[in-house]
Amino acid sequence: MLGFYQRHFLRLLDFTPAEINQLITLAMTLKAAKKQGKEQQYLVGKNIALIFEKDSTRTRCAFEVGAFDQGACVTYLGPNGSQIGHKESIADTARVLGRMYDGIEYRGYGQEIVETLAKYAGVPVWNGLTTEAHPTQILADFMTMKEHIGDRELKTVKFAYLGDARNNMGNSLMEGAALMGMEVRLVAPKACQPEAALVKQCQDIAAKTGAKIILTEDVAQGVKDVDFLYTDVWVSMGEPKEVWDERVKLLTPYQINQNVINLTQNPHVKFMHCLPAFHDMNTAVGKQMAAQYGLNNGLEVTDEVFESKHSIVFDEAENRLHTIKAVMVATLSKDE
Ligand code: CP
Ligand code: NVA
Repeated sequence: MLGFYQRHFLRLLDFTPAEINQLITLAMTLKAAKKQGKEQQYLVGKNIALIFEKDSTRTRCAFEVGAFDQGACVTYLGPNGSQIGHKESIADTARVLGRMYDGIEYRGYGQEIVETLAKYAGVPVWNGLTTEAHPTQILADFMTMKEHIGDRELKTVKFAYLGDARNNMGNSLMEGAALMGMEVRLVAPKACQPEAALVKQCQDIAAKTGAKIILTEDVAQGVKDVDFLYTDVWVSMGEPKEVWDERVKLLTPYQINQNVINLTQNPHVKFMHCLPAFHDMNTAVGKQMAAQYGLNNGLEVTDEVFESKHSIVFDEAENRLHTIKAVMVATLSKDE
């Protein structure tokens, strides 16, 4: 894979549509090879640092398993137990880790933090989620869409994202759709639609790629004829607890339930979610939410839809592994 070696993976707009396609193709090749027991290791002897200032199941496991599959070693640096952020600056952390590791993953707060790490590290830095962006998730999402559309190209896909579209997922899905020439409908109340500056940037890209970016408050119009319905949590990690009341009030009409499935008028519509999801309200936090808001069957998605034949959320979760592995292989190995 020419052109990826030693590059950072910070946001989708740093890449061309051809490069995004190349990464997805590499992920599909690596997935097939692993399933056939024929995976070739490109990262033997590499060391990888994983900085997580916020919690994670999928992203952390994908980096760890992906690295082990490829022959690399990882060090996990959690929210506590290192000097990062409180006693030592990000610039110093980057220079220290850059002397010991071949690549650094960062999950945490502002996009400027991962940009600073990249500026000083001297080795590839990968964005494992910031407040503004979640680019590795989009690679997995588009790979999963590809697996479900057969011979069609991504640019023929129409999808609707309902809920909090002003978060990392709304932003990154819009960026990805703009690049890949897809039709994305961001279906959300005005207060939860992406920032105007990013919308404008994506619309300029869409003018070149043929993408359509539609912002609407109207659920019926927004979901009609889509191939995929997508949602995410209504309150993201790092946001204050106090925003819950207002978000629930604003976003309850945007819950993905059987009625929304029917409104798509597409019996084959697929449901996607980056996870974790508030659908099974029997978890510790779920019980508390259900009692507080009376939404016993789920918040952003009902349990009925999550568990239905429409749902492809676990294909999506598995593909986090293959796509994150592709990013590591592409940026750390000269030949692949
Ligand atoms: N989708 C996702 O990033 O999941 P985790 O928070 O579990 O990593
Ligand atoms: N918007 C969510 C995504 C989790 C994968 C968050 O930032 O918490």
